[in-house]
Amino acid sequence: MPAIRSNVIVDSDAFRANRAAHLELIAEFRGLEAKVREASGRSDAKFRQRGQLPPRERVNLLLDRDAPFLELSTLCGLGMHEDDGKENVYGGGSIVGIGMISGARCMIAANDSGIKGGAAHPMGVEKAIRAQEIALRSKLPYVQLVESAGANLFLQAEMFVRGGATFANMARLSAAGIPVISIVHGSSTAGGAYQTGLADYVVMVRGRSKIFLAGPPLLKAATGEIAGDEALGGAELHASTTGLGEYLAEDDADALRIGREILAKLGWARRETRAAAPPPLYDAEELLGIVPVDYRKPYEVREVIARLVDGSDFLDFKPSYGAATVCGHAAVEGRAIGLVGNNGPIDAAGSAKAGQFIQLCCQAGLPIVFLQNTTGYLVGVEAETSGIVKHGSKMIQAVTNADVPKLTLQIGGSFGAGHYGMCGRSFGPRFLFSWPNARIAVMGGEQAAKVMTIVAEESAASRGLPFDAEKMKAQAAKIIAGYDMQSTALFATARLWDDGLIDPRDSRAVLSFCLETCREGEMRELRPNSFGVARF
Ligand code: COA
Repeated sequence: MPAIRSNVIVDSDAFRANRAAHLELIAEFRGLEAKVREASGRSDAKFRQRGQLPPRERVNLLLDRDAPFLELSTLCGLGMHEDDGKENVYGGGSIVGIGMISGARCMIAANDSGIKGGAAHPMGVEKAIRAQEIALRSKLPYVQLVESAGANLFLQAEMFVRGGATFANMARLSAAGIPVISIVHGSSTAGGAYQTGLADYVVMVRGRSKIFLAGPPLLKAATGEIAGDEALGGAELHASTTGLGEYLAEDDADALRIGREILAKLGWARRETRAAAPPPLYDAEELLGIVPVDYRKPYEVREVIARLVDGSDFLDFKPSYGAATVCGHAAVEGRAIGLVGNNGPIDAAGSAKAGQFIQLCCQAGLPIVFLQNTTGYLVGVEAETSGIVKHGSKMIQAVTNADVPKLTLQIGGSFGAGHYGMCGRSFGPRFLFSWPNARIAVMGGEQAAKVMTIVAEESAASRGLPFDAEKMKAQAAKIIAGYDMQSTALFATARLWDDGLIDPRDSRAVLSFCLETCREGEMRELRPNSFGVARF
């Protein structure tokens, strides 16, 4: 068995320093996640007083006990719009993730109505669209817990047009044969009303669900008409008169029970049984000491692989050819995968090797896991003459067109076209998570500053003008500071360049969950229809 033999010295200053730096980064993002819960929690008393459950409790009650829930994009929109990135952190105003309901794997999207009445805002819209995209590709029933004030009226210009995609996707899911279920806990106004109307199954709560195109304030503003919300769109009206809702629950808990019941009746809870797999030979805890948080410091990516895969068993592919690009076969919790990792910039041979390996994975039907830690493709006369443009392009082509599930972990640097070739966001990974030390940018800030200084110097020389060194120094400092701030994992996750930050120690569990999700999707046979299920 070709198990990796670790050479890590655990008892060293470097190991301890790396670990301390990682723990600090992990504490930072966990602290921000706690702020999201705190922001929503400020409305808890209001919910209780109305006899409602707060949004996160709804999600917990919906999910199977003791089953995993992979929450996605917890820090969506961090530091953007009304989210100040410090005290008022909103997570995109929704709770989204994959979990089990009555044994069936589902995508759950709950309006976090403790925050701004569940109003949708620009990054929250993107979060919903990404959740729907995952649901469609992995064939997951899409279950919404609705309580929404509709569009955030302070930010409409930045979300109105794009927001339509969330409704179009509901229609697409239904037509693809994927059930869409809305449990309506409260106000479902304007856009929120379509969250309900476009669902295949609607569960409403007596006295609490209010589903209308224009609620009392909007109606008064639009037409001057004054009406109460029960008469405009109460649960009983929709259960007995309009036929918009299928099930009438007595309270939030009852509605969630009915939601679970619907999933149970669909019979989508099929699971694949697998033999128990051996854990890695080395402790995942050691990842924190092995990987420097500074991407400029090199380390052996096989040490990471040894802590992710079953039995640390890794069949290295062409290890002496294009050696800085590491490819090989392994398994995670009994699921065979191909892995592509980096031990430095990608050169021509490494590109060719990765391209070939990706095609072999496609031939064998193996999901591919990319462990991104690269400053990009190699530059210089030697690299150019060895055909780096040609080979790098072909690697990117192979990555793009690989038709097996691709999963990406950004575990360090993710720069330049290396980000693309290692299956960055735009290259269709089914899931992409970042460690909190990840750095994502077109290049490093110092390099960008140097490039722009050289360009300015040459431009001044060609026009016979003096070169203003002081001005350039100030520009360089500005570029470096800007790049530093804009390349952090927090900046990236805020913009949904990933599906969330994870603790490096959870990587194996997350990969395993995602591989299982992809596999279950492959096994599900859908029964598509042309227009989505209609409510006549
Ligand atoms: N856009 C932006 N912010 C909104 C909002 C909207 N559409 N609707 C509510 N909010 C904000 C409120 O200003 C308040 O902000 P604060 O926490 O900073 O004070 C917060 O959300 C909670 O609102 P509140 O009215 O106290 O909550 P509620 O649970 O009692 O009532 C609604 C919720 C949805 C019934 C009520 O807020 C409402 O009717 N909003 C307008 C809905 C509407 O007409 N939308 C049209 C969209 S096209």
